[in-house]
Amino acid sequence: GTKFDFMVVSNRLPVDRCTSEGTEDDDGGWRRSPGGLVTALAPLMTKADGAWVGWHGAPDETVRPFSHEGMDLVPVQLSSDDVELYYEGFSNATLWPLYHDVIAPPEFHRAWWDSYRKVNRKFADAVSRHAADGATIWVQDYQLQLVPRLLREARPDLRIGFFNHIPFPPPEIFAQLPWRKEIIDGLLGADLLGFQRPSDAGNFMRSARRFLGASVKQQQVHVKGPDGAITHIARAQAFPISIAVEQISDLAKNPAIIERSRQIREDLGNPKTVLLGVDRLDYTKGIRHRLKAYEELLDEGLIKVEDATLIQVASPSRERVEQYRLLREEIEGTVGHINGTYDTIQNTAVRYLHHSYPVEEMVALYLAADVMLVTALRDGMNLVAKEYVTARTQDTGALILSEFTGAADQLKQALLINPHDIDGMKNAIMRAVNLPVREARRRMKGMRKQILTHDVDHWSADFLGALNEKVVRDDS
Ligand code: G6P
Repeated sequence: GTKFDFMVVSNRLPVDRCTSEGTEDDDGGWRRSPGGLVTALAPLMTKADGAWVGWHGAPDETVRPFSHEGMDLVPVQLSSDDVELYYEGFSNATLWPLYHDVIAPPEFHRAWWDSYRKVNRKFADAVSRHAADGATIWVQDYQLQLVPRLLREARPDLRIGFFNHIPFPPPEIFAQLPWRKEIIDGLLGADLLGFQRPSDAGNFMRSARRFLGASVKQQQVHVKGPDGAITHIARAQAFPISIAVEQISDLAKNPAIIERSRQIREDLGNPKTVLLGVDRLDYTKGIRHRLKAYEELLDEGLIKVEDATLIQVASPSRERVEQYRLLREEIEGTVGHINGTYDTIQNTAVRYLHHSYPVEEMVALYLAADVMLVTALRDGMNLVAKEYVTARTQDTGALILSEFTGAADQLKQALLINPHDIDGMKNAIMRAVNLPVREARRRMKGMRKQILTHDVDHWSADFLGALNEKVVRDDS
């Protein structure tokens, strides 16, 4: 079969099945999924002799390798057991809560771990089979932390990078994981480990020292063999991810989308203030805290339903995982309670939308919103914050941003909040609603400048550049 020089590996392939059957276009029934990662990597993929390895999203279904819009795709098959134990279980009910400050209690089940190991092996095997001699492999995210080690064992010729899109927890929390050693060892198979924030890289290195006895020198982790000699050097550094800036700002200047944003405000009855939240429906996003603050402001009469409305887009996510079901019940109960109390025949306090929308509609919403609320309790980066700023090409509007997001490291001119501090959040919302035009402009300009010079192409170029550097051992 074909061999590839550059391979990206992620749990999901960067395509979705088109649901509309019948129209047999040359797309073969697949559509490229939205998101910056695909936008950034697709050109590299088509230019180099590249391929993307990942799950195609359908349990128990075999899909042969195929190509889509010039990208070669290598599907990995998962059984419904794999999906339940590896994906819903270990990835999203063990690692996800553990890595996000145990906001929900992580569950530890040996059968989930066995499945995680087995599925990671499947991914590594698929890469091994298709990688050319000396190829560069870029593994993505927490679902695949054992792949670097498995690959290095099978194919010592490969150059292996890993990027963790979510936080890496402090060793005091990571310690809970019964398989903490195996995970650290799995990651240390990589030449370069990328994290969102310097603190995530630091947490990883402290765990490598504590649980594997590795020695850590600046940004290097020295892995030792049984005789104490260094067998491998893995580097760990921060590479904050970003968005496809041009795509978002082009859409924001598109007359049809500007018209759509005007239409949205008109449909809402042209309120003075439109507030917006956009999240996957996930307990890490602080949606409950946000609704609590908003409800209290309505209660106290500081915000009036005639003057303001909160649009909350909560896109469906991981709906078979129990904590996500519970969260949905809770959010929908709270929204019903708020609206039942404050709505009038004419006005709605919270427009709750349990849908996902195409990027065009998202940009129209960003343009329609005076205040963007990003209140995550913990978030690796949060790209919604960067998209909102990028869409505000007129330098109006206000971004409220949780300090517990990676984005807060870069967007220092946002109105930064601690989402656990409900009074602080209420003050920030009132400040945002009444933000003087000049101050809004100064803040937006500052944030836009940061994002323009650090888009997702810079991110991938920085990472791949560092991955290909020759490593000089640091003995300091
Ligand atoms: C986060 C993770 C990604 C994941 C995405 C959607 O952004 O970092 O790895 O793909 O959520 O979640 P899902 O479980 O639907 O893939």
